[in-house]
Amino acid sequence: MSNPFDLTGRTAVVTGGGRGLGHGISTALLEAGADVVVLARTEVPAELVAHAEDLGRSVHFYPVDLADGDAIAATAAQVLADHRVDILVNNAGTQDRYPAVDFPLEAWDRVIDINLRSTFQLCQLFGRPMLERGEGKIVNFASLLSFQGGLTVPAYAASKGAVAQLTKALCNEWSAKGVNVNAVAPGYMATDMNTALLADPVRLEQLSVRIPAGRWGNPEDIGNVVVFLASPAAGYIHGQVLAVDGGWLAR
Ligand SMILES: NC(=O)c1ccc[n+]([C@@H]2O[C@H](COP(=O)([O-])OP(=O)(O)OC[C@H]3O[C@@H](n4cnc5c(N)ncnc54)[C@H](OP(=O)(O)O)[C@@H]3O)[C@@H](O)[C@H]2O)c1
Repeated sequence: MSNPFDLTGRTAVVTGGGRGLGHGISTALLEAGADVVVLARTEVPAELVAHAEDLGRSVHFYPVDLADGDAIAATAAQVLADHRVDILVNNAGTQDRYPAVDFPLEAWDRVIDINLRSTFQLCQLFGRPMLERGEGKIVNFASLLSFQGGLTVPAYAASKGAVAQLTKALCNEWSAKGVNVNAVAPGYMATDMNTALLADPVRLEQLSVRIPAGRWGNPEDIGNVVVFLASPAAGYIHGQVLAVDGGWLAR
C-alpha cells in the first residue's frame, strides 16, 4: 500500500519558506518528497539548498515583496510558467506592535496587505490551475490571534481572524472541486516574529506558564503538520483551522 503521507513528485510553493516557521515547513516538505518553490524577500539559505540536493530534491527561490500586489501577480505568473504547483503554503506573515489608539494606519495597511491580501491573491493565482486540474492543497497561516485578540497587535489579530474566515470561505467554493483549503494556527513559536516577547522576561514567564505542553513551539513542530495537510492522508479535511499550540487554546 502506498504511503498516504508521501509527497514525491509534488511541487509546493512556500511563502517565506527560507527562515522561521517557513524553514521548518520547507524542510519537512522536502523530506516528504516534494520540490519546493520559495517566495520571499531574502535568498534561501545555502544549507537548505544543500539539504534538498542531498535528498535528490530541489529548492527554487523567487524574490518578491508580498506587500506589492503587482509583484505578486508577476512572480506567480513566472512560477506557473516554470512549475506545476500542487501545494500552496501561505506561511509568510508580519506584525507590528503599537497601542491600538496610536496604531499608524500605514502600519495597519501593511500588515493587512502582507497577511491577508497576499494570501487571498496567491490563493486565486495558484488556486485557478488547481481547480482546472481538479486537484490541489492550500495551507494558510492563521494564529492563536484568529481566536483571541492579543495585546497591542490589532492589525495582526484582525488579519489572522480574517485568514481563518477566508479559509472557510474558499473551502465552501473549492472542496467539491478537489482543492483542500485548510489553515494552521501556530501557538507561541520561538522565531524572529517573537523577538520582543522573548526578550521581555515578565511577558515570557506569563506566556510560558500558560502553555500546557510546558514549552514554546519551534519550526519542526509545524513542518510535518503542513506535510499532513498537503498529503493524500488529509484528503477529506476541508476548511479547518488546526491549532498547533501545545494546548494553549484548551486551557
Ligand atoms: N511565531 C509565532 O509565534 C507565530 C504564531 C502564530 C502564527 N504565526 C504565523 O506563522 C507564519 C510564520 O511566522 P514566523 O514566526 O516564521 O515569522 P518570522 O520568523 O518573522 O518570518 C516571517 C516570514 O515571512 C516572510 N515575509 C514577511 N514579510 C514579507 C514580505 N513583505 N514579502 C515576502 N515575505 C515576507 C519572511 O521572509 P523574508 O523576510 O525573507 O521576506 C519570513 O520568511 C506567519 O504567518 C505568522 O503570522 C507565527
